[in-house]
Amino acid sequence: MKVLFVSAEAEPFAKTGGLADVAYALPKALKAKGVDVRVIMPKYGSIAPNFTSKMSQLSSFGVSVGWRNQYCGLEYLNYEGLPFYFIDNEYYFKRPGCYGYFDDGERFSFFCRAVMESVKHMGDFEPDVIHCNDWHTGIIPVYLRDVYYNAPEFSNSHVVFTIHNLKYQGIYSPAILEELLGLNMGYYSDEKLKFGDCVSFVKAAIVYADKVTTVSETYAEEIQGSLAGEGLDGLLREKSYKLCGIVNGIDCDRYNPATDPNLAMNYSKKNYLMGKAANKAALQREMGLPEEPDKPIIAIVTRLVRQKGLDLITCVMEQILNLDVQFVLLGSGDSDYQDFFEYYASAYPGKVGVRIGFSDALASLIYAGADIFLMPSQFEPCGISQLISMRYGTLPLVRETGGLKDTVEPYNKYTGEGNGFSFKNYNAHEMLEIIRFAVETYKDEKAWKRLMKTAMNTDNSWDASAEKYIALYEEMCEK
Ligand code: GLC
Repeated sequence: MKVLFVSAEAEPFAKTGGLADVAYALPKALKAKGVDVRVIMPKYGSIAPNFTSKMSQLSSFGVSVGWRNQYCGLEYLNYEGLPFYFIDNEYYFKRPGCYGYFDDGERFSFFCRAVMESVKHMGDFEPDVIHCNDWHTGIIPVYLRDVYYNAPEFSNSHVVFTIHNLKYQGIYSPAILEELLGLNMGYYSDEKLKFGDCVSFVKAAIVYADKVTTVSETYAEEIQGSLAGEGLDGLLREKSYKLCGIVNGIDCDRYNPATDPNLAMNYSKKNYLMGKAANKAALQREMGLPEEPDKPIIAIVTRLVRQKGLDLITCVMEQILNLDVQFVLLGSGDSDYQDFFEYYASAYPGKVGVRIGFSDALASLIYAGADIFLMPSQFEPCGISQLISMRYGTLPLVRETGGLKDTVEPYNKYTGEGNGFSFKNYNAHEMLEIIRFAVETYKDEKAWKRLMKTAMNTDNSWDASAEKYIALYEEMCEK
């Protein structure tokens, strides 16, 4: 089975969110199961020189972007056994970061076409499956079906499109069809790419892909309704026969408290009580909080954007702090939220520790040193932090949406079951009640230990989900 995995970001080269984790960890898990999987992504200017210096150029060729012909270099790097290809065009990609430019539509139109052209230059690699991810890759299914249908390198190719976040759709003026995509105005129709008065890359993918997946079963249901459907719920209901949810896992080698180099003390299921205590003290020191071993730490590591449910927290922040807790936050994003949390850090020194920015090392220390990991997302296709926190013995407290619902089993004080806490409605006081319940439960040492154990024993590896993807690939190829 040959799979070309297409993503706009991938660890360890470029990352803005969870997509990058998946674009490394899933191919790695597939490879371990014998799949010949290769990842392809843009060669951004911000990829570290220790990687770029090791890349080798396989080929260069022209790629059409509407009526223009643009340079494209194909570079290669084997990273820890996993083959990566990079699309090189300095005009489009030699810039800091991944997205957020006025010409993103053009950049990723080029990317989609360049991926199709690259396959010829990969030696004897003719993909059985092209696995596309998020809007940046959305035109590839259209090209495969309508432009490259005669190309020998794609004679056995099928395409699956995975939605990691339906909120980002790649919506552009219809002029893009002829100008950039080399498609005629016939594609501006309701059955094809038309979305309102525009064209949508994600819609293109949903219409043209052989299979559409998303990153949890609950999110696959939710996007078929108007609340999370982002205007595509009707289409997704129509195409539900080819839609399914497969939950993400985490890379258990990378997120392992027994080997994580960023911890004050490494620990496993055998000595987790000692390990967590040592990391808690280290975290308190790091965040300028008093070393109080018995005070529960509520932690947040996130991008500071609305999706993450921060409005619920700002609404009841005072009440949370009235509980006997410490509060730790690491993240960056919208300045309103940054200002809010920085204000609380200065108003409540010794109770609130805030770090604006991102740091893998501090994130690890938080996963290991905190007690409760708060994730009250408005919507969450899958979510990865709740999985990491469980592995580190920190109990997630989540809203029951998307993958959060599918991965966190709420604590039942009568049966003792559960690996975290959860609440249903997007309502600040409902969240507050569950935070209170968690803080109460924390005082019950026996119950808390049991919860930590169950959380650490939860299998959040990629193993089962990688099998599901393989079954899906096989099903596609049989047809
Ligand atoms: C997006 C989603 C997140 C998911 C990740 C990887 O970032 O917001 O919920 O875990 O993609 O699939």
